[in-house]
Amino acid sequence: MNRVQGSRIAVSAGLALAGLAVMLAVPVASAAAPTKKKPAPLELKQAAHAEPWVRYADWSKANWNDYNTLRQLASPPYVEPPKLDGPIVGDPKKGEKLAYDRRRGGSCLACHVLGPTTQSMPGAVGPDLSTYSQWGRDDQWIFNYIYDPRSVNPESVMPPWGTHKVFTVDEIKDMVAFLKTLNGEPKIFSNPLENPATRPLPVEDRDNLDPFVNNAMEGVERAKVLWGKAGPKGKSCASCHKAPEKEFKAWATAMPKYEPRLKKVMGVQEFVTRHARATTGDNWLMQTPENMDMGIYLHHLANGSAFNVDTKSKEAKAAIARGTKLFERKIGQLNFACLDCHSADKGANKWIRGQYLGELKGQVDHFPLWRTSRSEIWDIRKRLQWCNVAVRANELPPDAPEYGDIELALTAMSNGIKLSAPGIRH
Ligand code: HEC
Ligand code: HEC
Ligand code: HEC
Repeated sequence: MNRVQGSRIAVSAGLALAGLAVMLAVPVASAAAPTKKKPAPLELKQAAHAEPWVRYADWSKANWNDYNTLRQLASPPYVEPPKLDGPIVGDPKKGEKLAYDRRRGGSCLACHVLGPTTQSMPGAVGPDLSTYSQWGRDDQWIFNYIYDPRSVNPESVMPPWGTHKVFTVDEIKDMVAFLKTLNGEPKIFSNPLENPATRPLPVEDRDNLDPFVNNAMEGVERAKVLWGKAGPKGKSCASCHKAPEKEFKAWATAMPKYEPRLKKVMGVQEFVTRHARATTGDNWLMQTPENMDMGIYLHHLANGSAFNVDTKSKEAKAAIARGTKLFERKIGQLNFACLDCHSADKGANKWIRGQYLGELKGQVDHFPLWRTSRSEIWDIRKRLQWCNVAVRANELPPDAPEYGDIELALTAMSNGIKLSAPGIRH
């Protein structure tokens, strides 16, 4: 798909120039509102999510208030790791157990192969450490690297295990002792799927629009029924929109967009909540089944049209700049930025445990989607929330302005790519 993308972008750049020429030829006022439609009615006062926001029942209950989120800065500052007062005396057996403990931030196995005892499904974002005792590192170096890799490599994607209190000083010493036992004996993988060097890359070639393949396609059918169902105000969507197939044929490809009445970027799902409140009187909060189904339907109507979000207005430019800046922010106890996992010069195109990390570009053309591993429909906001909680950062409510900025920045990268929703992913 990436190869095709280049030419599509060239085409859309050409169109943008043509658009500019048109804009220059007409007075400013009509250029801003070419179709002279009234803005869609929106309820503007309440949140679009249930308040207070409560994390999904089957997600981690932990609270990471002491660490950065996409909204607030709270992580402890970097300080130099403690100086050792002699050679490390640690328990390599204990260290081995800790290195494989999945409850400790996915632990070392998420990114490293660690010699013959390596447990199931290691990742490969970091180097294979099976020969580590031969790397010529002294104890303080190894200790420092694990305690806080920024002490050696400020660009490291490895979490600061000591500074951020995932492991104690003594536990880190035990892991140093374990790493020093790795003398070159390799892990023998009984199955090529287990070895991150030979594990086949995931290929998503299921037909996402086949209802027998993709359960989220049922959302389209459910939404068509909802469309004609009168809400508390006695009106249904159909009362005002008789032919959604025509009227909203490309609407979703221009979303998300900056909404001046809310002073933030609004996505499809938040629009559904606010517009339904203002018209039919339904209160379909974000992440509820009705909201998701309607979001799927409105995306599905636009299938085959290329994304074309606003990247030109002053507000859109500012939002994209904010979102792009947030891609770099280190968040959570595990201290990851989006780019640590999703940029090609860091974690992208590698395995983090059993998951293959994609690049940020071209990731939004298939939302909302069916997640086969969870049997759930996810919109883009839930995915962003997951990418926060996965690094032990408190997520924000789904209608958070920060997610709006990020969604617009992501979608801008997908301008020119055709929408195909609902998607299907592992
Ligand atoms: C998110 C991926 C990730 C995780 C999880 C991770 N590492 Fe790393 N590690 C790396 C990367 C990438 C490097 C290569 C250098 C760099 O970028 O900092 C590295 C390098 C290292 C090194 C330094 C090698 C040298 O140059 O001397 C050690 C030691 C190490 N890791 C140990 C650990 C231990 C112990 C754990 C678990 C507590 C762990 N790593 C977890 C990604 C990770
Ligand atoms: C009382 C009339 C009314 C009802 C009921 C109504 N809408 Fe609308 N809708 C409007 C108006 C007015 C607009 C703005 C301009 C236009 O498209 O005519 C609009 C616009 C839209 C748009 C385009 C938004 C944009 O940015 O221009 C979508 C999508 C939409 N409605 C979906 C729905 C859905 C889904 C429902 C049912 C929950 C619904 N509408 C119910 C009146 C209504
Ligand atoms: C610790 C690593 C990690 C971090 C940090 C992370 N993600 Fe992810 N992300 C993943 C994994 C794993 C997946 C699922 C595999 C994939 O598609 O890349 C994923 C998937 C996604 C997807 C959906 C891809 C698809 O095709 O469905 C998007 C969009 C995304 N991430 C955006 C972000 C953004 C934006 C941030 C920063 C706020 C972020 N991620 C931070 C690991 C991470």
